Amino acid sequence: MDINIYVQDQSGEKRKLVAPTDMALSLMEFLKGNEYPIEAICGGMALCATCHVEVLEGEFGQRTDAEVDMLDTLFNVTDRSRLACQMRLNEKMNGIVVRLKGEHD
Ligand code: FES
Repeated sequence: MDINIYVQDQSGEKRKLVAPTDMALSLMEFLKGNEYPIEAICGGMALCATCHVEVLEGEFGQRTDAEVDMLDTLFNVTDRSRLACQMRLNEKMNGIVVRLKGEHD
């Protein structure tokens, strides 16, 4: 199944993307593949925070322990913050709205 993901970038521009759920992609990998400027220096290990996003609407999911530790070190964290590399694309995420935040806004 394909799902819709709405993405707001740092300049405020919004786009609707259609994402596959059957390729075991993380949200970080999917966003990178769509040319968003996420460095992902740590390769998706929850260690760099360049993939930090805010989930504005829809399925929030469950933060991993490593993710919580990394988010704790950021100044721009909110109660809707997640690391996109720790979010595996799945059907529950259909219609999700995310805003890119990175290490600093
Ligand atoms: S890619 Fe480094 S924390 Fe997600």
